[in-house]
Amino acid sequence: MIDFEDTYLDCIKKACLGKGFNKQILANKTGYSLYSIKKFLKGYYSNEILEALAKILDLGIKALRSHAQDSKRSDLIAPSILHQYQTNFLYEDTLSLNVNHYLLLDPNTNGALLFDTGTDAKATIQDLLDKGRILNSIFITHQHKDHIYALEDYLEAFPTVSIYASLPLKLQAKQTQILSNRQNFLFGSLRVEAYHTPGHSKDGFSYMILGLEKPLMFVGDSIFSHSQGGTRTIEDYQIALNINKTVILSQYPETILAPGHGPLTTVEHENLHNPFYAK
Ligand SMILES: [Fe+2]
Repeated sequence: MIDFEDTYLDCIKKACLGKGFNKQILANKTGYSLYSIKKFLKGYYSNEILEALAKILDLGIKALRSHAQDSKRSDLIAPSILHQYQTNFLYEDTLSLNVNHYLLLDPNTNGALLFDTGTDAKATIQDLLDKGRILNSIFITHQHKDHIYALEDYLEAFPTVSIYASLPLKLQAKQTQILSNRQNFLFGSLRVEAYHTPGHSKDGFSYMILGLEKPLMFVGDSIFSHSQGGTRTIEDYQIALNINKTVILSQYPETILAPGHGPLTTVEHENLHNPFYAK
């Protein structure tokens, strides 16, 4: 089972960065001492401090509390044609993270689509060969290294594959097509709608898939189950909140969300349980 990407403390820290609040500001605004705030942020749990922080950070109190105490993931049943892979990315000598990439098999043709590449292509390429599938296209959600690390390996295995990304790819590939917002593509029985979803990253794109029993959206690091991707500035944080709310969480409640980190979820689940949006 894939773990949540972020704890309740990660959510609080991301919201602090997004609002430009340091620990002293948190203390001043909540009326708790700097010592108590620091202790809480180190993991000494207090319901009262959590509620006070949620209030000043505009996080959903109930959602944040339940994420801290007894976090339940969405009970969605993923379609069998969606394959989720998790690979490991070493970003400092001793620090690593897990990143998702996804294969979507067209139910009516022998084509397949890939969403991001992760850091290791071996298992995915083997699955494609075992199933006799042809990789039609690779869709990039954003060009942070962990999401495109294995791109070259796919290009080697499938030299004619098309690549879709928002900006020219860092890795030069002649078959890259630059996306524009709301562009549509047809692949066999599937339709892909590309939505520009900046905030976490300027080049962020999410991909809505139509033609399946339920809508499915690949959202990169725009949103995670019970959290969202980090932002660098106060402005980017506001952009992320606004875009996630209006472009992703306004889709049909049953829409399956496939994020760049952590487990699959649904629009309905995140509207109820994601502390950034469940008010
Ligand atoms: Fe990212």
